[in-house]
Amino acid sequence: MRNSIFVGAIAAGLLGLAAPATAQLNVICSVQADWCNALAAQFQRESGVKVSIIQKGSGETLAQLQAESANPRTDVWFGGTHDPHIVAAERDLTQAHASPRTTELHPWAQELSRVSKGKAHGIYAGILGIGFNIEIMAKRRIPQPSCWKDLLGPEYKGEIQIANPNSSGTAYVAIATLVQIMGEEQAFEYLKGLHRNVNQYPRSGTGPIKAAARGETMASISFMHDAVTERVAGLPVKAVAPCEGTGYEIGGLSIVKGAKNLDNAKKFVDWALSAPGQRVGIAARQFQVPSNKAVAPPPEAPSLFATKLIKYDLAKYGSNDERKRLIAKWGQEVNSLPR
Ligand code: G6P
Repeated sequence: MRNSIFVGAIAAGLLGLAAPATAQLNVICSVQADWCNALAAQFQRESGVKVSIIQKGSGETLAQLQAESANPRTDVWFGGTHDPHIVAAERDLTQAHASPRTTELHPWAQELSRVSKGKAHGIYAGILGIGFNIEIMAKRRIPQPSCWKDLLGPEYKGEIQIANPNSSGTAYVAIATLVQIMGEEQAFEYLKGLHRNVNQYPRSGTGPIKAAARGETMASISFMHDAVTERVAGLPVKAVAPCEGTGYEIGGLSIVKGAKNLDNAKKFVDWALSAPGQRVGIAARQFQVPSNKAVAPPPEAPSLFATKLIKYDLAKYGSNDERKRLIAKWGQEVNSLPR
């Protein structure tokens, strides 16, 4: 037995297979692909750690972490809306990490660490809004929307996209936001009215604004910074913060419980929270508000202060039961209706 292991080791050595294991890190990334790829490349360059990164929406990532929890293949979950990160913390899919960078973060980001008991770190903030194609609206002489209620008008029939909350954290933030603004009953009446005007519920949170930018839909419910990304790329889109007020996301960053590359995961998290780590997103033309106080938001980023924001109840809407209940209710009472 010993001999055959020894012979096997020599054979592997001759084939070049016995090289020392390279430092490795497996990341699931829920922001846009340009940012994910830039993060992997820069961290790899600076640390020598080989990063494998895949892009996946927030709801989908939560489902994947649950599915692989007995034998995790992922070390870090970067980005995506706060609610599924809080659910992951509650379900014990992620683990606490006391990052020395925490004190460098804005209070709204530290709030996410507090609610998740140190398991999710705030990496950015984004404001929910209404996106629209300015050329289509001008051509059809439809006034640009300014309030949630505008989207119920007959001129929007078949012209709105919002993502599916089962896969997209953006769409869940929208539901939770409407419930917090209008109360649950009114919010579901609103969602039923909106459903009549929706042409599609795409899988990914950025699908609707990309469709609006390409003229495939007139309007979308999207994060305002994602509209800025399309606009700086030269596409005819704009986003507004609705007059009734709106909600926001705190982008999360969590280390997976049972991560096989724990030291590298901690190194990555500390780096991603640092000022140089946060500038990677800005360089990738992403316009969220960075959580590190030393990093000024890009000038095009929608301002957190100029917007009528609700006080999002992270603990309530990020709880496993409430999220599950609201998404199931949306499926039963809204998505099942004819259009
Ligand atoms: C985009 C936004 C992020 C957001 C993410 C959520 O990448 O730029 O700010 O966190 O979407 O994606 P999801 O597909 O879960 O809605």
